[in-house]
Formats: sequence, structure tokens, C-alpha cells
Amino acid sequence: MDDFREKLNAVASATEQTLTALLPDGAGNPMAAPMRHAVLAGGKRLRAFLSVESAALYDVDPNQALRTAAAIECMHAYSLVHDDLPCMDDDDLRRGKPTVHVKWDDATAVLAGDALQTLAFEILADAATSPDAAVRVALIGSMARASGANGMVLGQMLDIAAETAETPLTLDQIKHLQANKTGALIEWSAHSGAMLAQDAGAELIEYSRAVGLAFQIQDDVLDVLGDAALAGKRLQKDADAGKATFVSLLGLEQAQKNATSLIEQACDALDRFGDKAHSLRQVAHFVVNRES
Ligand code: IPE
Ligand code: IPE
Ligand code: MG
Ligand code: MG
Ligand code: MG
Repeated sequence: MDDFREKLNAVASATEQTLTALLPDGAGNPMAAPMRHAVLAGGKRLRAFLSVESAALYDVDPNQALRTAAAIECMHAYSLVHDDLPCMDDDDLRRGKPTVHVKWDDATAVLAGDALQTLAFEILADAATSPDAAVRVALIGSMARASGANGMVLGQMLDIAAETAETPLTLDQIKHLQANKTGALIEWSAHSGAMLAQDAGAELIEYSRAVGLAFQIQDDVLDVLGDAALAGKRLQKDADAGKATFVSLLGLEQAQKNATSLIEQACDALDRFGDKAHSLRQVAHFVVNRES
């Protein structure tokens, strides 16, 4: 997996360079520092990697893929800034650093999240992302669907509602919650390469649905078993908060088994691409073996 780490690091730094150029700069704009803190201060860049590697399957120009990677990392960073707010998960540490509302204040965190979300769309709308306007509209429309009331926002709402539900959620309800909360943006990332190439990319959708679910299961497993210093965020909080997770319903062992079999499913879905999908298979394994 060493060559995988190198590839992940290379995509992370290329994405960060792209982001650095696209974010507002500090000269006279008070939004610059909190936005840069939220999106540039660490992170595995998993979604960026999925974007870049899915585009590589179709030999899309890497500079276009780095823009979809930057856009999805902005959207993801916004979701984290809002997720950490006192009215949501109330977390003071993210990526090993103080959260935006702790370093600044709640209003700044809400606004930095808002501005990162709109920046994601601004990046996609630029002709540098694709010279074809129909491709840009497809990217923007699908990102709006993945992040809104039938995607990430819905998942976050279900996650918060489950904390006070009278009866524990069923397995299907937890799958639905997680598919929206985390799955939708992961699916967008892995499908973005196909969208840039104007291919249906059905295999990538199948792959990303399995990877997305396995990813959130591992996030929930790490909440119980992980090392907070490695994770860069507070752990052992989900059970006390009453979060509905695979771990809360099935226990650790079964949750981990489910994640492993989802990864096999994900890799099988990529058969058509042969060796070209090697990195996407590696990242699928990384998703369930990661410690942060
Ligand atoms: C954490 O996502 C939040 C969830 C969606 C579960 P990541 O684990 O991908 O966070 P970063 O980007 O690496 O910090
Ligand atoms: C966050 O899920 C998901 C989104 C931000 C959409 P979690 O609340 O489980 O993420 P962590 O554990 O705080 O990173
Ligand atoms: Mg949360
Ligand atoms: Mg959280
Ligand atoms: Mg979590």
C-alpha cells in the first residue's frame, strides 16, 4: 500500500494547490482566513482522490479533475464546519486543529460554511472545469442534489433526529441515513470523472455506494476504537450522543464484517476497467483499514 500512500499524498497536494488559488485571499477579505482554515488545514482528501482517479479512468485532462476535486473538498469542508457547530455535534477539534467556531465564533463558522458551499458551485460553473456547458450543468445539478434536502443535508437531519428517537433505528433506516449523510458526496466524487467524460458511469455509482457505506461504518468504528490523536477529532462521543450507527445496532464485529464485504462488492463493480481501476480498488481498501 506504500505506493497508494504516495499517490494519495500527490493528489492531496495538487488539490491543495488548486484550492489555494481558488479561495479568497487575505487582503481585506475577512472570510479568507476561516475558509482557508476549514478547507486547507489537513484532511485525507479521499473525495478529491475519488474525483481524480475516476477521471483518470477516462483519460480526462487532470487539470479539469483537480477542479472537481477542489469543488467537492469545499462542499465537504462546509459540511464539517456546520457538523461541528454547538447546535449539531458540538466539537472543538477537527483535523487536529480548533474548529472554526472555536477559533472564531459561531457566526463566522456558519458564514464560512455557506461561502465554501457556494464556492464549490462557482468552481464547477467555470469553463476551466469543462469547455462543454452541458457537462458543467450536469456537475452542478448533481452536486446540488447530492448535498441538499435529498442528500447530505437530509442525512444530517436524520442523524440529529435519531439522537432523540423513541425507538432505535432499523438497519434499513441507518443505511438510508448514512447513504445520504456521507454516501451522497462520496458518490458524486467517484461519479464526477464519468460526468466529465460524458459517460453513464454505472459501475462507478455501484462502486461508490458500497465505498460510501463502508466509509461511514469505519468512521463509526473509529469513534469507538480509534486513537483521537491520529483521527484529529474527539472520539467516543457517538454512543453518549445517541447516534444511530451500524456499531450501535450490530456491534463492532458485525459492523466491521459488513464494511469488509462492501469493499469486496465495490472492487468487483470495477471489473470492466481492468488494471486501470487499480487505484480505486486500493482506496476502497484504505477506507476500511484507515486509522484516521
Ligand atoms: C469525516 O470525513 C466526516 C464524515 C463524513 C464521516 P473524512 O474522514 O473524510 O474527513 P477528512 O476530510 O479526512 O478530515
Ligand atoms: C459528519 O458525520 C457527516 C457530514 C459532515 C456530512 P460525523 O458527525 O459522523 O463526522 P465526524 O465523526 O464528526 O467527523
Ligand atoms: Mg455529525
Ligand atoms: Mg460530527
Ligand atoms: Mg463520526
